[in-house]
Formats: sequence, structure tokens, C-alpha cells
Amino acid sequence: MKALVLCGGSGSRLRPITHTMAKQLVPIANKPVLFYGLEAIRDAGIEDVGIVVGETAREIREAVGDGSRWGLDVTYITQDEPLGLAHAVLVSEGFLGDDEFVMYLGDNLIKDGISSFVDQFRSNKPNSEILLAHVSMPELFGVAELEGGKVIRLVEKPKEPPSDLALVGVYMFDHNIMDAVKAIKPSKRGEFEITDAIQWLIDEGMEVDPHVVGGWWKDTGRLEDMLEANRIMLEAIEPRIDGHVDGESETHGRVVVEEGARIINSTVRGPAIIGERTRVENSFIGPFTSAYFDVVITGSEVEHSIILENSTITDIPGRIEDSLIGQNVQILRSAPKPSAYRFMLGDNSRVGIP
Ligand code: G1P
Repeated sequence: MKALVLCGGSGSRLRPITHTMAKQLVPIANKPVLFYGLEAIRDAGIEDVGIVVGETAREIREAVGDGSRWGLDVTYITQDEPLGLAHAVLVSEGFLGDDEFVMYLGDNLIKDGISSFVDQFRSNKPNSEILLAHVSMPELFGVAELEGGKVIRLVEKPKEPPSDLALVGVYMFDHNIMDAVKAIKPSKRGEFEITDAIQWLIDEGMEVDPHVVGGWWKDTGRLEDMLEANRIMLEAIEPRIDGHVDGESETHGRVVVEEGARIINSTVRGPAIIGERTRVENSFIGPFTSAYFDVVITGSEVEHSIILENSTITDIPGRIEDSLIGQNVQILRSAPKPSAYRFMLGDNSRVGIP
């Protein structure tokens, strides 16, 4: 069995962060989202992995390399245009051959991994197995309608969802999916939808087994989902202090301080992770915060936020919360007179002021 990991897409819902980085590489608890997926694939006993890349190909290749770090054998497949998930399967025909495969969307996170679903697929041998999860806003996803435990209809982002069962971004297929992706037409948003390809399998009388995911799942395509994913992953971290915490500082609960990080005259209340070479000085770091590497936080309070590498937060009077702060960002208190907000924000930035 092979795995096909999709890492295309422009990440439009996470701009401006995704103007400069692939959405699959945004770190959750200081680890790129994509790496959780690769670990899940390895844990399911799959070694042969195709990664479909688009405009962020270079970054993905740099981050993943040949996959040997996970014991995986990675092949890169180029999708020249983002024409949809079914199109990604089509361009992977040479890699997939006639093999069965699990398709994994690189920005999806399933806390309990995929081993049990893969095992079920291997033993039941349907033509396809789809994972479903109950969600509060099904209109944002592909939605399944079941009858007597069978999938009877799938619709992509319906205005009036027939159920609250969303398609999770992990699918298993046998070789018949190749005929399906060749048969379908583009959707209204101009994409070849995998949802339509699976509907084609159903219409052709093939067996598509549903599996409702019991544990926790997130598509990390939006800020709120990123922060929630970060919160849940941090809840499970093992406390570890490899950096330096000075005598004036305190850490409480699940806190990781990575090698080369320094906590000076500050409080870090876990769950939280302070990345390599990051300095926290005269500050408060509240629960559910991930500061990546080479960050500097001085004279400030940060909680329930993700801060990417090389960013600086200096002397901010109020508490920073619910924020995703990109790479090389500077947030600082400006000169008191004349009293004014002073911004230099990238395209599609969002700022909340009380
Ligand atoms: C894609 C699929 C959708 C699925 C979702 C899961 O949506 O088209 O059916 O529910 O992934 O993450 P997209 O993220 O491309 O909007």
C-alpha cells in the first residue's frame, strides 16, 4: 500500500502567513502540521509516499527531504496548477500504478493517527473507505449522506448540508479511483473534486465504506482551527526543560523549554512550548502558547497564541491572545507622543484593537 500526501493549494484562508510559507508547514506545538501526517503514515506501516506539490514545492522539499528521517521513501509529484484533489490523483498515476493507497491532505490533523482505518481497509478490501466526522459547520466541507450505514450521496460544500458528517481529509482507494478522476467534470469552483470522484464510484455500484472518526480531527486551514489544534497538541506534551530558566522565573504545568532557550525573570504557565534559542524576559507566557525558534518576548504577556520564528514582541501593555504571528514580525510599543497606532502590515493581515 502507498500513501499520497497532498501539499498543493495556496492557503488563501491563512493569509498573510501563507504569502511566505506553505500552509502545511505552519507549526502546531512547534512541529509542522505535515510532519504529524507523515508520522501517522509511518505508524500505519506505509513506506512508499508520494507528495504532490504545487507552488510551494521548494519549501516542502526542503522541510521533508527524502523522508528518511521518518523511515519513508518519498517521491515528489508536481501538480502544475491547483485544479483540485481529484486532479492531484490524476497527475500521480505514474507513481500509484495499480496499488491501493491512502490519500492524506497535508493540512489535516488526526490526533489518534490512521493505523486503525488503514487496517480496516486492508482487511475489508472495499473499493474505497472514507472517514467522516460530526462537525458544527458542515457547509465548509464535503458532506456525506448515509442510509442504513451506507454512503448514498456526497456533496462538496453544500449550502444546505444533508447531514453534519464532514469528509475528513483522509481517504483510501483501490485502482478504480483512477477511472473516476478521469470521468468527472470540474465543479462550480473550477476544481476536479475528489468528492465527485467518490460519488462516481458509488454510482458505478462500487463499495465505499464510511468510517466515523471517534477521536479528534482538524482541517487546519483557518486561524481558529490552527489555534485549537495547537491547544490540543500542547495538552499532550511531556514537560522538559533543556534550556535555561533563571532563579527569578517560574514554570507551571506542562512546559517545554528547548535547547538554547532562556527564560529570564518571567512566568511560563503551561501547556506551552518555548522553541530553540527563544528568549522570554520580564514576561508572562500563558497556557496554549507556542513560541517557535529565535523569538524574543520582552516586557509582554502572551497567551493562546502561535508565534513563528525570528519574531519580536517588546513592551506591549495589554495581553496578546488568540493570535498567529508570522515569521520576522516585530510588535513593539511606539513612542508615546503623538498618541497613535502605527502599523506596517502585509496584505490580508488582521488586527484586533480593543
Ligand atoms: C477539502 C475537500 C473537502 C473535505 C476537506 C477536509 O476541502 O474538498 O471535501 O471535507 O478538504 O479537510 P478544502 O480544504 O480543499 O476546501
